[in-house]
Amino acid sequence: MREPVPSLEELRRLGAAQQPTYDDPAALAQVVAELRLRPPLVFAGECDELKARLADVAAGRSFLLQGGDCAETFDSVTAGDIRGKLRVLLSMAVVLTYAAQVPVLKVGRIAGQYAKPRSSDTETRGDVTLPTYRGDAVNSLTFTPEARRPDPQRLIEVYNHSASTLNLLRAFVKGGFADLRTVHTWNADFVHNSNVEARYQEISDEIGRAMAFMVACGVDDESLRTVDFYASHEALLLEYEHALTRIDSRTSTPYDTSAHMVWLGERTRQVDGAHVEFLRRLRNPLGLKIGPAATAADVVALCDKLDPDHEPGRLTIITRMGARKVREALPPLVEAVGATGRQVVWVCDPMHGNTYSSGTGYKTRAFSDVVDEVNGFFDVHDALGTWPGGVHIELTGDDVTECVGGVGELAEADLSARYETACDPRLNRDQSLELAFQVADRLAQGGRKRVNPVQQYVAQDF
Ligand code: PEP
Ligand code: CO
Repeated sequence: MREPVPSLEELRRLGAAQQPTYDDPAALAQVVAELRLRPPLVFAGECDELKARLADVAAGRSFLLQGGDCAETFDSVTAGDIRGKLRVLLSMAVVLTYAAQVPVLKVGRIAGQYAKPRSSDTETRGDVTLPTYRGDAVNSLTFTPEARRPDPQRLIEVYNHSASTLNLLRAFVKGGFADLRTVHTWNADFVHNSNVEARYQEISDEIGRAMAFMVACGVDDESLRTVDFYASHEALLLEYEHALTRIDSRTSTPYDTSAHMVWLGERTRQVDGAHVEFLRRLRNPLGLKIGPAATAADVVALCDKLDPDHEPGRLTIITRMGARKVREALPPLVEAVGATGRQVVWVCDPMHGNTYSSGTGYKTRAFSDVVDEVNGFFDVHDALGTWPGGVHIELTGDDVTECVGGVGELAEADLSARYETACDPRLNRDQSLELAFQVADRLAQGGRKRVNPVQQYVAQDF
């Protein structure tokens, strides 16, 4: 018999990290009560389906691409913005699938990624000190006392914006936008000027020929026309996540229906803390962010709590070590988790360990560090004989200037041109595609050691 989900009061008694201080507890309670009556945003059966797909990733049969904004904002819930992010993710997935010949599981940091952990409770500008911005779920980025006041009504807004985002995503991925026969049109409105563009064009032309071949052979499959796409975010705000937790009518077990997959952040993964206590009771697939300070014993203790049954697909460990640390910090963790007998999904987040302040005062990341951490992650798994299961990227469909380097050779002096993030610097579309080509190259190298997927398929059939 599984233990029930603790009440919000019990969780608060554990002293949850990174929670806003609301000044009107009655208003907060009213919002939680209202959210409990709202329909779930995802269906528990979809979470199970994602878990089964993640089990395939853990077993080395598929690769996870997880990506999206660092912090979504209410203002950016527009058709263009959602389409832009989906388009980048699908383009990256096509590059990975075609160039590396592996199935790619697509999961967005989207439709719920509205709350941020922060290193300080307050922000000071000149002689004014105000509460820090904790994401649109909590307060507003504008630096005034009114805007920075944590407002519980924003949790209702998170629900509404997540619902409309998911609605459009579901329409796009099932309604024809993601049709593989139209991949070449996904990036048509961008300037064609880079070698990334040229490589992408080459791949879409090859896919066009492969499609024509299949159609000529009489293949007309649903899987060419639609894709499966899942939503994920950091389960940070306990009120919101708890209010959207429902008992699944099929299995009588609890699921957080705010997303298919939720993850524990580096700053809220205290083994006896409220977030772990809450998430370990849920049946969703879970992510766990791990930074360079974590010991093998820390990670194993978390695995024991979050995945006591060694359930395939249950746990995805997202490492964010930094380019300079990944090669030393990752191997002991992979070995210790492997020694428990679990098969977890290992994912590389090459963003959060590589943030620094530019000379011009912008928080940025160097594309070369991002690539270096990804390479380090592949090197470690290649050496240990484990499967580098995926990448977790902060990106946007827009042509922003937030990370330096990449094909456009963005310099620190260029950052001010289009620096739009509400939190961490994201890869723009060109940098994201360029990264996908780099990852595909690594996967393809490893692929020479793997069984060709067509042979595998034929072997299963006959
Ligand atoms: C994030 O993914 O946005 C984040 C805050 O990461 P981490 O918990 O790894 O610092
Ligand atoms: Co971030």
